[in-house]
Amino acid sequence: MVLYGGMNQGICMPGRWIALLRATTICCVTLGSASAAPAAPDRIAIDASRPGPVIHRNLFGQFAEHLGRGVYEGVWVEPDSPIPNTRGIRNDVVQALRALKVPNVRWPGGCFADEYHWRNGIGPRAERPATLNPNWGGVIEPNTFGTHEFMDFVQQIGADAYVSVNVGSGTPAEAADWLEYLTTAQPSALARERAANGHPQPYPVAMLGIGNESWGCGGSMTPEQYVGELKRYARYARNYNAKQPMSRIAVGPDGADTAYTKAVMEAWKNKTWAWDIEGLSLHYYTVVKWPPAFKATGFGEDEYATLLAETRRMEDLVRTHGAVMDQYDPQKKIALIVDEWGAWLAPTPGSPEGFLEQQNSQRDALIAALNIHTFARHADRVRGANIAQMVNVLQAMILTEGEKLVLTPTYHVFRLYVPFHDATFLPVTVPAGVYEHGGVSLPRIDAIAARDPAGKTWLALAHLDPAHPVRVSIDVAGATFSRARGETLSAPRVDSVNTVAAPGTVTPKPVTAQSTRGGLVLELAPASVTVVALE
Ligand code: AHR
Repeated sequence: MVLYGGMNQGICMPGRWIALLRATTICCVTLGSASAAPAAPDRIAIDASRPGPVIHRNLFGQFAEHLGRGVYEGVWVEPDSPIPNTRGIRNDVVQALRALKVPNVRWPGGCFADEYHWRNGIGPRAERPATLNPNWGGVIEPNTFGTHEFMDFVQQIGADAYVSVNVGSGTPAEAADWLEYLTTAQPSALARERAANGHPQPYPVAMLGIGNESWGCGGSMTPEQYVGELKRYARYARNYNAKQPMSRIAVGPDGADTAYTKAVMEAWKNKTWAWDIEGLSLHYYTVVKWPPAFKATGFGEDEYATLLAETRRMEDLVRTHGAVMDQYDPQKKIALIVDEWGAWLAPTPGSPEGFLEQQNSQRDALIAALNIHTFARHADRVRGANIAQMVNVLQAMILTEGEKLVLTPTYHVFRLYVPFHDATFLPVTVPAGVYEHGGVSLPRIDAIAARDPAGKTWLALAHLDPAHPVRVSIDVAGATFSRARGETLSAPRVDSVNTVAAPGTVTPKPVTAQSTRGGLVLELAPASVTVVALE
C-alpha cells in the first residue's frame, strides 16, 4: 500500500506518511551488490497481442523559461562568445539535445510568459530594451534571446516550437500580432517586419499555450475569469499557417484541484464555432513541502523513498483529471498536457536566489522514469509533457559551468527512452513485490513496454530498491525472443551525481541477456533504470 500526501497551490504538502518516516536523516545509501541476488527471477509479462495507444513523442518535451541560467548561458551565449556557438546558440548544448530527439520546447515560460512582451525581443539586438524579470530574482532581462533566436534554436535541435502567450498582463491583440508575425505567409505589415528582421518565411508554431498557471502567477484568476479570457485568446491568437497545424493548450489544473479542469472542459463542451482548444495543461512537481527543502545531494534513503512516493502521485492526478475530462470529452479529443513536471529540490547552496539551480542524481533518474511510465500508461489522454526545465534549472538535462557541460542522470533517461517516441503501448504485468522503507511502500519494479514504428519491442524497467538487485524473467505473449539488449543506468549511490570534475559517475552501460533454459533473465542493479530491445 502506498500512502500519499496532500496538496496545496500545486505544491505538495507533507502527507501523513511523512510522519511515519524517521525524523533523522540517515547516511547516504550505498547501493547493494549483485552477489545478494534472489534465486528465483520475478516474471515480467508483456502482452504483444493487445496493443494500446501510441505513446506520443510529445511526452518527451522540454521547457526553457527565461529563468536563471536556463536560457542565458544555458542556451544563448552571444555570437562573439569564446564558447563555440552557431548564431549565439551553444553548439555543445545543441549537440546533446539532438541526441534526445526533443519533440518540442515550451518557451518563454512559465511565470515569465505572463510578463513577456514579444516586441522587446525582435529587431537589432543592440537596440532591444533591458527589462526586468521580477519572477526570477528581479534580474535584468536583456531580451537578446527573443522570437528569432528561439526559432533558430528549436530548428537547430530539430524540435517543434511550443509558444506560451501572455494572458496575465498582455492583451489578445498583442498575442494575435505575435502569431501573425510568426506564422503568416501573406505580405502583411507584420510579415514584412519579420522579413526585415531576417526571416521572410513563416515560422511553424506547433503548440500554443494560452496563459500559464492563470490560477497563480498568471493572474490569480478564478476558473470562470480564465474561461472568459480563454475564449478571446483562442479566437484571436490564430495560426496563419495552414500547412503546419497548431494545438492550443488551455491552462488546466493546479495539482489535484479539479476546478479549472471542470470549468475549461465544460466551456469546451458547450463551445460555439468561434473558438476551440486541443489540449489542457496540468502542472505537478515532485516537491513534498513548500518551500522546496529536499536536498539534491547528500541525502539518505528516507529522502529517496519519500520523493519516489511523491512522484507516484502523478498516477493519481492523471487518473483524476482524466476522469473529469471523460465526463465532457469521452472521445478524448482534448489532450492532457503535463507541461510542467519534475523534482523541485532545495537550491544549490550559494546559487543566486530565484535561479532554481539544483544538482541531479540517480534519484532524479528514477523520478523521471516513473513519470514517463505514468504518462505512457495514460497515453490515450496524456499526449504531451514537458519536464521542468531543460538546462540549469530544476530537474535539468544539462548543467553548464562556463564553457563546460555536464549531462545529468535525467538526460540519460531521456536518451534511453527515445525508442518509446511514437511507439505503441503494450500491456505489461510486473511482479507484486514491494520496496518498503520507513512507512513508504512502493512497487519494487515499475515497467512499460512498447512496439516502435519499425516493429521492434522495447521494455523499460525502473527498479526502485536501492539495497538489493533483482532478477527478472521476460515473457512475451504472442512473440518469441532470444535476446534482450540495451542499456542500464545505475550508480554507486542514490545521490550520485555527474559533475564537471567527474562527468561519467552516472552513465548508461550496455546490458544483454541471452535466452537460456531458464528463459530470458535480466539482472537489475539496485535503484536502476534499464531499457532493452527484445530480439
Ligand atoms: O518551472 C518554474 C515555475 O514553476 C514556472 O515558471 C511556473 O509555471 C511554475 O510555478
